[in-house]
Amino acid sequence: MQTVKVNASTPYEVVIGAGVSAKIGDYLIELGCKGKVMIVTDSHVAPLYAEGVADELVYRGFEPSIYTFDAGEESKTLKVYGEILSFLAEEGFSRSDTVLALGGGVTGDMAGFAAATYMRGVTFINMPTTLLAAIDSSVGGKTAVDLPQGKNLVGAFYQPSLVLFDTDFIKTLPYDEIRNGLGEGVKYAVLEGGRIFEILSEGLTSETLEEFICLCVDAKRRIVEADEKEGGTRKLLNLGHTVAHAVETLTEFVVPHGVAVAYGVRVMARLANQRGELSEEEFYKIEEILLTNDLGLELNPIEELIPYFTADKKRAGDTLTLVTIAGIGDCRLTEIAIEDAGAYFMV
Ligand SMILES: NC(=O)c1ccc[n+]([C@@H]2O[C@H](COP(=O)([O-])OP(=O)(O)OC[C@H]3O[C@@H](n4cnc5c(N)ncnc54)[C@H](O)[C@@H]3O)[C@@H](O)[C@H]2O)c1
Repeated sequence: MQTVKVNASTPYEVVIGAGVSAKIGDYLIELGCKGKVMIVTDSHVAPLYAEGVADELVYRGFEPSIYTFDAGEESKTLKVYGEILSFLAEEGFSRSDTVLALGGGVTGDMAGFAAATYMRGVTFINMPTTLLAAIDSSVGGKTAVDLPQGKNLVGAFYQPSLVLFDTDFIKTLPYDEIRNGLGEGVKYAVLEGGRIFEILSEGLTSETLEEFICLCVDAKRRIVEADEKEGGTRKLLNLGHTVAHAVETLTEFVVPHGVAVAYGVRVMARLANQRGELSEEEFYKIEEILLTNDLGLELNPIEELIPYFTADKKRAGDTLTLVTIAGIGDCRLTEIAIEDAGAYFMV
């Protein structure tokens, strides 16, 4: 078991290890929680883990309730968010009670937003159950729901009081979801280099899983501590995301987020190499890490993607902040005028 301490505006611990979910009641007592706990979960995760977590809470004197929504991004809506808030009110939750997310990034983002806003904020605990949520979305305090006009358009920065990731949860995760998490993992590998890159170059195994998650969480911790509200350096975490959002929109979200991010990293690596900013040797190392992790996707002609970069103009303004790759472990923020995007990408 390992612990990463995040010194955000509200400090908290991220605990990672096999079997840690069995101690959830003890952790909540340590945090000073008492009374009611709303477990927010989805329809795939509920039958696997919700009763076990609820039993632990009852054993430690808490009063848990379970709110289950239909699994999938389609549920990350104002409607389901509203239903969670109504359920909290119906069950008589007060400001001193707790919301606990048990699931992937969809659950964590939506339950976190409910916790941030119910009675102007109640204690929020995140128990991620996907690789993507463990290494990325559960840390950093971004909570949100989607609107028909776009993803994550309504939300808040709201830090959890604890993140508890039981590595045993990965055992039931379908292969496609592991691959999706590895997509965000490749992003950290290129941002950080070093051991994260080495682990994914060799292929993640059950022996390296805990170390890998800790290293990714620690990388995110450093970035979030330096820039919690994404005024500057936190934007580095958007490596691959401009292209990823274009791919997600183009494919109507058939390509899942993490896989789209890996695709975006590949496009950015190729671009950097063509622009003479990334050496041939490092470019091929990035290509190889993508192939090793089953993320060597066939690339669309860049002309098909460019119109989507500018689609967000109303929200993004006239400039596009790209995360460019100068080397493995050396990524930078580069601002370009949106009208120059075509020329920039068509080297
Ligand atoms: N807040 C942030 O900083 C941040 C960062 C990255 C992504 N995100 C968000 O995260 C979301 C994607 O997260 P995700 O990929 O975890 O999606 P998800 O929550 O939909 O989970 C993926 C699938 O795996 C299933 N599942 C989850 N855990 C399981 C387990 N242990 N065993 C079996 N099945 C399991 C879920 O039911 C779902 O079908 C997106 O909405 C994205 O916007 C947020």
